[in-house]
Amino acid sequence: MTRTPLIAGNWKMFKMGSEAVNTVRKLAELTIGTNNRDIMIAPPFLAIPLVYQELNNLNNAFKKENKTESRISIGAQNLYHENQGAYTGEVSAPMIKDAGATHVIIGHSERRQYFGETDESICKKIGAAFESDLTPVMCIGETESEKNEEKTFYVLDKQIRNGLKGFRSDELSSLVIAYEPVWAIGTGKTATSDQVEDIHKKIRSLLKEMFGVEFSESLRILYGGSVKPDNIADLMSKQNIDGALVGGASLDAETFAKIVNF
Ligand code: G3P
Repeated sequence: MTRTPLIAGNWKMFKMGSEAVNTVRKLAELTIGTNNRDIMIAPPFLAIPLVYQELNNLNNAFKKENKTESRISIGAQNLYHENQGAYTGEVSAPMIKDAGATHVIIGHSERRQYFGETDESICKKIGAAFESDLTPVMCIGETESEKNEEKTFYVLDKQIRNGLKGFRSDELSSLVIAYEPVWAIGTGKTATSDQVEDIHKKIRSLLKEMFGVEFSESLRILYGGSVKPDNIADLMSKQNIDGALVGGASLDAETFAKIVNF
């Protein structure tokens, strides 16, 4: 089963709107000839419509120059699971869709750590993403202490089973999973490609048990945690690593383009 690689950038709470537009313009120009891989960037909420408009303008210009359209799609970094209502400060899946995003990162470790998100709330968010035809990128990962206590796959198993509770395989077709060991996020400590491959194989095996082989073989599993231009090729050489979710290195267009063009 061949799976199209997905290289995604999580801009977290960086980049004001105008800077986001400049970065996506440069990234589109640096990746316009890149084929057989999908690219996604997840700016802060307020920049999504601005980046969407810029990509539309760029693609119209590329068409006039007989160039292929950019493969960049836009993601949100979170959503609230209700579609509307008295939930001050929240953003719903329909709003994210209306702003031009097609993907949404759900359950990032920083949301679990700082905002108390649980496997149960993440499950609801994934359901809301599907209802609005958004592609959920579900984040899982163990902390340093869980790793040191050799609880890594116990933690990942729980996050997957509880995060995907109640779904049928046919409902999950667009799901992407991002394995992001918390101890590798923002630390410069990247898991080795062999470590990641071993974990991804176990994740795929668990998903086969839960949802069948067709789903488990078609699902893309990304790695996130200090991905850089100098380690992406080794990571992508592994059969069960289908892409990357990149934080810091995605903020600079030239650096991220080197990762995209691995
Ligand atoms: O969501 C991706 C992010 O958590 C990884 O961050 O800076 O280690 O690439 P970074």
